[in-house]
Amino acid sequence: MLNEKIQKALNEQVREEMASFYLYLSMSAYLEAQNLRGMASWMAKQAQEELGHAMKFFRYIHERGGRVTLEAIPKPENEWASPQAVFEATLAHERHITACIYKLVELATAERDHGTASFLQWFVTEQVEEEGAAEGILARFHMGAGQPAALLFLDRELGARQ
Ligand code: FEO
Repeated sequence: MLNEKIQKALNEQVREEMASFYLYLSMSAYLEAQNLRGMASWMAKQAQEELGHAMKFFRYIHERGGRVTLEAIPKPENEWASPQAVFEATLAHERHITACIYKLVELATAERDHGTASFLQWFVTEQVEEEGAAEGILARFHMGAGQPAALLFLDRELGARQ
């Protein structure tokens, strides 16, 4: 059984992951409107991953005999200054999510809920990958700064994401 504090914090993380899903879906729509179909596809897959993350928390709360209560997710941004700005916002958002996960781990440890602390380790590892992916893409933007051919090349590369 989950204690109240942990249940509340896990439910809050369901909301955070759903907000990530919504934000990345909005970014995908923006990239599609810029005719960057590869980047739009990459971002749509990222959105799907976030939905998967939300569902992992959803299932875990139930598995521990808890109660899932869904909260409102905010309206996402719809416009960015450039495709690069989209990926800068992605990295900033992933850093925010990493901070949320670390706070959850600290709470689970303080409450001596080792089951939840262990469950969260998957997300600790995932966040290293998520931040690394966004940093890698931004590095490519910086390398090709201002060159349309580099942007199109990166678009094609990101479109290959499985
Ligand atoms: Fe669910 Fe991208 O963190």
